[in-house]
Amino acid sequence: MAACRTRSALRSLVASLLMRSPRILAAGLTLVAGVTLVAACSGGSSSSPAAPSDDPVLVEGQQVYSQNCASCHGAAGQGGYGKKLAGVVTEKYPNIDDQIAVITNGKGAMPSFSKKLTAEQITAVTRYTREVLGTK
Ligand code: HEC
Repeated sequence: MAACRTRSALRSLVASLLMRSPRILAAGLTLVAGVTLVAACSGGSSSSPAAPSDDPVLVEGQQVYSQNCASCHGAAGQGGYGKKLAGVVTEKYPNIDDQIAVITNGKGAMPSFSKKLTAEQITAVTRYTREVLGTK
């Protein structure tokens, strides 16, 4: 994201200033700490909870979620216009296929994703809501 790039550019600017002028070291360090805190961008394209990086399906699920679902269900699945998903879906849909069906076909105000996402993406995002958001 552009904002993240801007912040890391700012960080390296601060770092190079520090190199040149040890006198502002103390003030500079405080500033760097502050900037680093603000720049908690975690490298991803969203603020949805990170999927374990060793599971490519969950990583894809996170991407699909932040691009297609977070706007209604909240970045962390906490709910918004759409229902709360975090911690709810595994109980409500003990069989994952029933949840996949809701996302594929839609339900009430929930849009159908059968034309927008592949079956693989729907499975990935469903697993993401159960295994990453579901533990919140
Ligand atoms: C336009 C807003 C919107 C978007 C985008 C959206 N949803 Fe929904 N979703 C809803 C609404 C509203 C409901 C409640 C439907 C109902 O029960 O009548 C819902 C319900 C659900 C349910 C069932 C929840 C339950 O308690 O039964 C699941 C699962 C779900 N959405 C997952 C997703 C996933 C995954 C995505 C992204 C691929 C997504 N939704 C995108 C609005 C949305």
